[in-house]
Amino acid sequence: MLKDPSRRYRPVPVVPLPDRQWPSRMHKQAPIWCSVDLRDGNQALPVPMNVAQKMELFDLLVQIGFKEIEVGFPAASKTEFDFTRKLIEENRVPEDVTIQVLVQAREELIARTVESLRGARRVIIHLYNSTSPSQRRIVFNASKEEVLQIALRGTRWIKERLGEMPGTDVVFQYSPESFSATETDYALEVCEAVMAEWGATPQKPVILNLPNTVEVVTCNQHADQIEWFCRNIKNRDAAVISVHTHNDRGTSTAATELALLAGAQRVEGTLFGNGERTGNLDIVTTALNFYVLGISPGLDFTEMRRIREVYERCTGMDVHARHPYAGELVFTAFSGSHQDAIKKGFAHMKNLPADATWDVPYLVIDPSDIGRQYREVIRVNSQSGKGGMAYLLETEFGIYLPRALQIEFSKIANDEVDRLGREVSAAEIRDMFWREYVDRTTPWELIHFHADGVKGDIACRASLLHHGREVRVTGQGNGPIASFVNAIINYGEPTFEVSFYSEHSLSSGTEASAIAYIEICYDGGKKLFGAGVDTSIEFASIKAVLSALNRRAAHNR
Ligand code: KIV
Ligand code: ZN
Repeated sequence: MLKDPSRRYRPVPVVPLPDRQWPSRMHKQAPIWCSVDLRDGNQALPVPMNVAQKMELFDLLVQIGFKEIEVGFPAASKTEFDFTRKLIEENRVPEDVTIQVLVQAREELIARTVESLRGARRVIIHLYNSTSPSQRRIVFNASKEEVLQIALRGTRWIKERLGEMPGTDVVFQYSPESFSATETDYALEVCEAVMAEWGATPQKPVILNLPNTVEVVTCNQHADQIEWFCRNIKNRDAAVISVHTHNDRGTSTAATELALLAGAQRVEGTLFGNGERTGNLDIVTTALNFYVLGISPGLDFTEMRRIREVYERCTGMDVHARHPYAGELVFTAFSGSHQDAIKKGFAHMKNLPADATWDVPYLVIDPSDIGRQYREVIRVNSQSGKGGMAYLLETEFGIYLPRALQIEFSKIANDEVDRLGREVSAAEIRDMFWREYVDRTTPWELIHFHADGVKGDIACRASLLHHGREVRVTGQGNGPIASFVNAIINYGEPTFEVSFYSEHSLSSGTEASAIAYIEICYDGGKKLFGAGVDTSIEFASIKAVLSALNRRAAHNR
């Protein structure tokens, strides 16, 4: 990078507007939304959508509630032409939805575009040509007057062909491409000339779309450009002012929101900001930003997951995990203090009427309004203490360790977490517990156990593997566990006593399994826990005894 970028890069000069009004305005209503997913979004895909994919996305856009949808550039390719025809011929466009098509100011392209629209009920024909100084100079080598004439000729060619579209209500839209990089007074001159050529009236207004084709200005400067344009245009009520912000500076949402305060009435953009380079305006974010101001956006994102899924499948693009409102992780709290505050927020909301103002710390929107759910990811590190690990095992897996076992296990888990040098998840803690207690099979492994007798006088037989060799043991005691302890000591295992026992079920249903916890005491006071899991509680407790003995053997090695 350059030490001094000021020689290579310069701010675009913008129109002076010292008495700007937009900073003290508030949003009061949502704009008219126009989706350009099927054109600006599609033309920017590594693999553009085919007709079937465009149709699926079109249906989704209609379901979301878009009333204006740019369906393509029919003169640019067969797919675009065929898709436009299919929509019209198969009557796929609902009564209240208007399709829009894009075309350059070239007569043969306009002729083909008009052909693609035959039989449509209502359409927006969107004409554009670039007006910025660098495009005039570098691309067209044309003067301001020559560029203005391009726009006028294009407008005239469309007007002259209206007769070829009987029964079609045609709305005319004009875009001075690269508006934000164009001298604003010149852009205004071109737009006014186009309006006059078309014969715009308040009853039949044109749409003037003012693109931030490349985001070369800051969002406040863009708002100044829009306010200046709206204040100075003749016949203001014969035009609907539309904005079309791209995201090269990463501020397309802000640029649109401020442009709306500055007087724009209509917004073009795409789902999740798909489009050329860094993309178009993200309409999902912008619309939901209105929603959280308490203003109905007129678009419905209740089924956010499905919308994202269809979008990703049709376009082949991903929605980033941190994408506002839609990203996988935006309703997931990782930090303990955030989780605590959010929990309190939900509890507070629960005590209020259902329509109470949303007030949950860290969550700008109720996730359920857009079909999502709040999620916590709880992780512990070696500083978290036994409580953290026990809490994770309880909440995530329904494993309730006895207090003394919490203390014993937390030391083992802490060593492991220290060795890993990072935080660990609930699943990793569970795996550690299983490895240390439940999955131990040496030297002892249970094959079969059977206990019989009356209460207080039980005899048992068990077959076991001892260092991989099958052995049979028998014993007696006042219960199944005591009889097994007697049997295994009879066999020659160094003596021990059971000093603690508890158990609980792990899951419900017929496949329910149980977990048993046993603490053994040996060598005049040393203590160790074992844990066993089985569908039979009796087997789980015998496995827990063997787990403790296996751990003792490992400790003594
Ligand atoms: O970004 C742009 O300028 C465009 C025009 C064609 C409206 O997409
Ligand atoms: Zn664009």
